Amino acid sequence: MRIVLGVGGGIAAYKVASLLRLFTEAGHDVTVIPTEAATRFVGVATWEALSGHPVSNSVFDAVHTVNHVRLGHEAELIVVAPATADLLARAATGQADDLLTNTLLMAGDCPVLMAPAMHTEMWQHPATEANVETLRSRGVTVLEPASGRLTGADSGPGRLPEPEAIFSAAMALAGASVATAGAPAAPSAAPAGAPAAPSAAPAAVRALTGLTVTISAGGTREPLDPVRFLGNRSSGKQGVALAAAALEAGARVRLLAAHMEVPAPAGVEVVQVETALELRKAALHAAADSDVVIMAAAVADFRPADVSGTKIKKRDDVADPVINLVRNPDILRELVEVRDAASRDQLIVGFAAETGDAGGDVLEYARDKLHRKACDLLVVNQVGQDLVFGEDTNSVVILSRDGSEPQEASGSKSDVAAAVIDRISAELSRAVPPA
Ligand code: CTP
Repeated sequence: MRIVLGVGGGIAAYKVASLLRLFTEAGHDVTVIPTEAATRFVGVATWEALSGHPVSNSVFDAVHTVNHVRLGHEAELIVVAPATADLLARAATGQADDLLTNTLLMAGDCPVLMAPAMHTEMWQHPATEANVETLRSRGVTVLEPASGRLTGADSGPGRLPEPEAIFSAAMALAGASVATAGAPAAPSAAPAGAPAAPSAAPAAVRALTGLTVTISAGGTREPLDPVRFLGNRSSGKQGVALAAAALEAGARVRLLAAHMEVPAPAGVEVVQVETALELRKAALHAAADSDVVIMAAAVADFRPADVSGTKIKKRDDVADPVINLVRNPDILRELVEVRDAASRDQLIVGFAAETGDAGGDVLEYARDKLHRKACDLLVVNQVGQDLVFGEDTNSVVILSRDGSEPQEASGSKSDVAAAVIDRISAELSRAVPPA
């Protein structure tokens, strides 16, 4: 595959030399385009030696070959790492002041992946957030940065994801665009042009290469007034563990993040949502190009019928307020209906948090829920005051619509996530008709 590797002017540019090695060792033909600032961190000679191609950052070099037009047209994948705040801003506003930004504008339908790296304040600045949102809305895959030690004494979100994570995300993106361009990809096989990513993980768990997995996580918040909301105890830990496991299995992962107490894993695409209605919109949109949708979010079943535009005050001259609730749409059910109406090849997984009561035990309620929601798999856990919410461990039973034996999984939330992703991989490979 012909890859353009854009390198931004950040200290993390040195890590991109390893990323370049991963691409070339996997047999890809890589042209590196560093920005002027990037060459202050890593020199042109390094990029030329590692890529085996001449390197330039100016549209005025090799003018006779009209470099930016050729590179933009020929690229099958563009990866930008580190994507600095400046580079994100220039790309978002469509500037064309060097070879890299010119090439990005010439890229057409070519998948573009950007791996940001910068200080936390810059990453969380509204200007950067707006630029990232603009790029994502145009179809650019902007990865979440990793959290940890930054260049100075500071630490937080802003580290460049590890080269292996960027490599996997890039291969998944290229594979996904191959898959969506034609027939659905066979999940167990790497798509054409996408070699297996180097990973410590055994080949069997990279079964989602080339597939897009959308996962909702955390708890929705339903506003009552500008300062209050109705929420729930979900921490988002299980959804985040699922996202990490799907990423590890080679998938392109989109995380629909409601309120979470933990950060999203580096390498996933994050869509932030607040309410059930926002989650519904994001889920229906994301499902349109997803091979797997996992609804791990705790979605509020009800929302306040009226949201006060001003803070609700207690007053002695009127009665205390009564909160009227209206029902939120059942997103999982709707996803199944939309999929079935479109006869789409898609695996939909629900989660069920049950307490059991005098009317039935946890599994009885869960079987009934599976029947009502009609999803393919339902991951059931028992919840209560001290069970599951916010904890690092979990114990679940996976029920299948085809009525096969319930499967138990327990351990850390990562163990449970790995078991769920394994089960999803197994379901997908069973769904692929024999050649
Ligand atoms: N869910 C959803 N939309 C809702 C409520 C829940 O998509 N409005 C999804 C959750 O993400 C989860 C599954 O449905 O995957 C089950 O959630 P749960 O809260 O256990 O089920 P409820 O629909 O609330 O059913 P009940 O009220 O009977 O417990």
